[in-house]
Amino acid sequence: MTVTQQRVRLLWFPLACCLLSVACHREDRTTTGGGNSERGRQLVAQYACTACHDIPGVRGPKGMVGPPLSGMGGRSMIAGKIPNTPQNLERWIENPQALDPNNAMPNLNVTPKDAQDIAAFLYTLR
Ligand code: HEC
Repeated sequence: MTVTQQRVRLLWFPLACCLLSVACHREDRTTTGGGNSERGRQLVAQYACTACHDIPGVRGPKGMVGPPLSGMGGRSMIAGKIPNTPQNLERWIENPQALDPNNAMPNLNVTPKDAQDIAAFLYTLR
């Protein structure tokens, strides 16, 4: 094998790794709805969701008005009746009454972008 051939072979490794990481990242995006989970964690503190929810990884009062949000990433339902898809979770965070008019969580005027990031964070909770 010539030196050039060897170099060409070696080039495949970084290329393959690069493609793999892109593929894995895509996978991530579909399961989280594409939001930025680290920003979402900060927003959860900013919007004071912890006033009513115990949320792992977020400091706060660990309120008991709403259910704990641990395991949100693995649950099949939101509030026991709405399928837990990224789109539904984002809508829930933006305006809970739009999905379930009779529920007790107030509309906190979360913007769509913020809701997307918060949903991505909640999906990291297993
Ligand atoms: C004033 C209290 C209050 C605040 C503040 C609040 N929630 Fe809620 N939340 C509730 C209540 C009550 C429920 C239960 C609704 C139901 O099951 O009908 C709920 C339910 C939820 C659920 C569904 C949980 C489940 O078990 O399926 C999610 C997700 C959620 N809240 C996210 C948030 C996020 C994110 C924030 C901050 C942006 C937030 N909540 C702020 C009271 C609150």
